[in-house]
This record gives sequence, structure tokens and C-alpha cells, in this order.
Amino acid sequence: AKRVRTHHLREMKERGEKITMLTAYDMYTAATFDEAGIDLLLVGDSASNNVFGNETSLPVTVDELLPLTRAVARSVKRAMVVGDLPFGSYQASPEQGYLTAVRFMKEAGAHCVKLEGGAEMAPVIQKCTQGGIPVMAHIGFTPQSEHTLGGYRVQGRGDASDRVIADARAVQEAGAFAVVMEMVPGDVAEQISKELTIPTIGIGAGAGCDGQVLVWQDAFGLRTGRMARFVKQYADVHGVLLEAARAYADDVRGGTFPAAEHTF
Ligand code: KIV
Ligand code: NA
Repeated sequence: AKRVRTHHLREMKERGEKITMLTAYDMYTAATFDEAGIDLLLVGDSASNNVFGNETSLPVTVDELLPLTRAVARSVKRAMVVGDLPFGSYQASPEQGYLTAVRFMKEAGAHCVKLEGGAEMAPVIQKCTQGGIPVMAHIGFTPQSEHTLGGYRVQGRGDASDRVIADARAVQEAGAFAVVMEMVPGDVAEQISKELTIPTIGIGAGAGCDGQVLVWQDAFGLRTGRMARFVKQYADVHGVLLEAARAYADDVRGGTFPAAEHTF
């Protein structure tokens, strides 16, 4: 299958064909999601929570994300691999942002990068795109700014929709090839998606977006416990692994594994 490129995503939007995106952080999940035809694989800074065991996305570093990104990039034939710039690695200046983005492209083989922020990030988006790095923006609720946003909450309700709409326009104007909208009211996200020429990828932003993204450990049930309202459960990977681990332990403890056929 042909590699997904930014122009394909734009063409999909024009045709009204929905764009699919999932997170991936390692070889087998990346290869499997690629085989399933997922268009974009995001090596999210959500690896902070879902791989490294932190409570938020804030602690994860570039040096931690690069090897995961490299593993995903090596494992796909078709999907476009998105490197997610972590907190503190691009906010200081366009130069800092560009140099970090270059590391994701050069050292890890990402096909593009994603960064959080709207109008205030326009200079960073410009710098990267002018320097040959496609940028996916991320507006609405931006987890790296949870402490300035006042916690995990929907952005753009009521009068606050102006801010999200202005951010969407600003990132498109700055040269972003697509924009993630997280936890934005469905009607606002739909209006933005109709206005913008670049594709919008929603997470908790309703069906009016041009595409959707979910964290795979949430959607496929590796993570258990309370899930955000926008997550749909497609599988119970936790349950599958739990059963398998218990069955293995039972076999070993009971002496039924290894059997003759497993023995040289
Ligand atoms: O890091 C991540 O997983 C993300 C998606 C939720 C968009 O940024
Ligand atoms: Na992220």
C-alpha cells in the first residue's frame, strides 16, 4: 500500500472520507494497526501515562519518546507516523521547536510532528513547516497545559468558542497540515471542520470532525478504570492478557507446562 501523505489526508477531507488515527508506541501494535489500515499512528506523549507509568503527560522527555517513535516508524508500511513533541521541548522558541522536531524526523524517522497550542504556537508551526517538517496542531483541551487550563475540561463552551475558532484559523494560517481538536463541543468542532481546508481530527469533539483519534490502551481496553466519556470500548485486551497470564501460571505451578512437545 502507498504511504499516506499530507496531500492524501487533504484529498480525503475533500471527498468526505473519514481519517483514522490511533496511538502506537511499539512494533507490534504499530504493525497491527498499519495492517488494519489506520491512516495515522501517533506516538503520543501519552506514552508518559500509558508506557512510562506517570500520572500526566508532563514528565515524559524527548529522549524517552524518540526510541518509541523509531520503533513505530520502522514497523509501518502505509501509515503516516506522527511524533508528538513533549512538554517543554518546543514552547521556548521557534528555534527550540524546530530543533526538537528535527530530532523526531532524523533520529526516529517520524513523518511529521504534532504540537499543542493555537495562535500562540503559530511561529513554531511556521518555522517547522518552512524547514520541511509537516506539523499537526492540537487545540481545545491540551493536556500539557492542564495547569493553566484549570484541569481536564471541555474547551470552547459558549463564548469560549471564539478562542478555539481563532486557534483553528491561526494554526491553518501558520501552515499546519491538520489539527487535532480535543474535548471541544460537537457543534463548535463541526463548524471549524467545515470552515478549515485542512483536516480536523477529533478526540471528544464529536462526529463533525474529518477524522478521529483515540489512545489505543483506552479504546481496546488495556487500561482499566474510569474512562473519559468520549472513549468507546472495542476490546478487552486487559482481560485477554490477565486470563493468559493466569493460565500460564496455573500450568507452570501445576506442572502441565512445559509438556513433552515443548521439550527438546
Ligand atoms: O498523546 C496523545 O495520545 C495525544 C492524542 C490523545 C491526540 O495527543
Ligand atoms: Na499528546
